[in-house]
Amino acid sequence: MYEITIIPGDGIGREVMEATLNILDSLTVEFSYIEAYAGNKCFKKFGTTIPNETISLSRDADATLFGAVTTVPGQKSAIITLRQELDLYVNIRPVKSYKGTKCLYDDLDFVIVRENTEGLYAGIEKYTDDGATALRVITRKASERICRFAFQYAKKTERRKVTAVHKANVLKKTDGIFRDIFYKVSEGYPDIESEDRYVDATAMFFITKPHEFDVVVTTNLFGDILSDEGAGLVGGLGLAPSANIGKNNGLFEPVHGSAPPLSGRGIANPSAMILSAVMMLNYLEEYHEALRLEKALIQVLAEGKTVTPDLGGNSKTLKMAEEIRKKLAES
Ligand code: NAI
Ligand code: MG
Repeated sequence: MYEITIIPGDGIGREVMEATLNILDSLTVEFSYIEAYAGNKCFKKFGTTIPNETISLSRDADATLFGAVTTVPGQKSAIITLRQELDLYVNIRPVKSYKGTKCLYDDLDFVIVRENTEGLYAGIEKYTDDGATALRVITRKASERICRFAFQYAKKTERRKVTAVHKANVLKKTDGIFRDIFYKVSEGYPDIESEDRYVDATAMFFITKPHEFDVVVTTNLFGDILSDEGAGLVGGLGLAPSANIGKNNGLFEPVHGSAPPLSGRGIANPSAMILSAVMMLNYLEEYHEALRLEKALIQVLAEGKTVTPDLGGNSKTLKMAEEIRKKLAES
């Protein structure tokens, strides 16, 4: 029995969470859920977007499933606070094509490992006489652990290559450290190929030669931008899951937000949330059930009959989830 903290959040976050929990119910793994609050609805009720209780419930759980929140400018970001408080230093974002979806390539399968705690998102900005500056923080410690994670992940998932992405020709000191540490860490993994590339060229190669990538490891901002580009390669936000992982905690969430235009209509694509649950199952080392769930989703996507409007169908979120449950029952 795993204790899972669920944070449905706002808008379609709540809808895709409900659909996903319905499906998780029919797996052979048992979960007990505790619901925690975050986001804008939470702010209206409790005066904060992320109560301390949510942070402790997430810290104490075996894993956390996070839907999506509406972020109002000026309010504290719930998800960034959780990443920092739980030191979730890795953000894994797979780029994988599924049949039946609008992919630019129908056979992609690579993974972006993004540093989640520092870089240009360290949040150190100040106004100057003439504008403002932001500090780009790269520490040896964070570079070391993210590069090590990338190689460990490659080893565990039997991938052949790790590519470090940076801009060390311009950002000589910060990205110089990142690149050098990457190669130092790579010495411990002689069976895995290692290479480095500039971020601008990588942005182009994602479009022109995406098959050359296997595991990509990079700093915070570059990882944020490249992973949205990755989502664009394989059918968009409704299909993009992510994992936030630290030493003691894992939090799994779709890349998308609360999508106000879709909210309350029951037509959001639940796939990104379901694939995030697949990542959670892998994190919990429930590999068999992870594979079974992914396969059931793959079948429903490939058949293309009971899918949401963004996938070209006319099914509701819960109906698509029900169809996935049926496939699971048959497997
Ligand atoms: P968004 O990801 O919520 O939606 C952008 C558009 O993508 C939607 O209007 C919809 O057309 C499509 N889309 C997204 N998810 C979909 C799904 N599951 N099924 C079908 N179509 C889908 O991004 P947006 O509009 O920029 O942000 C809306 C709110 O969400 C904002 O308040 C923003 O701050 C917040 N946000 C929260 C995130 C989080 O909770 N981690 C991440 C991104 C945005
Ligand atoms: Mg982003």
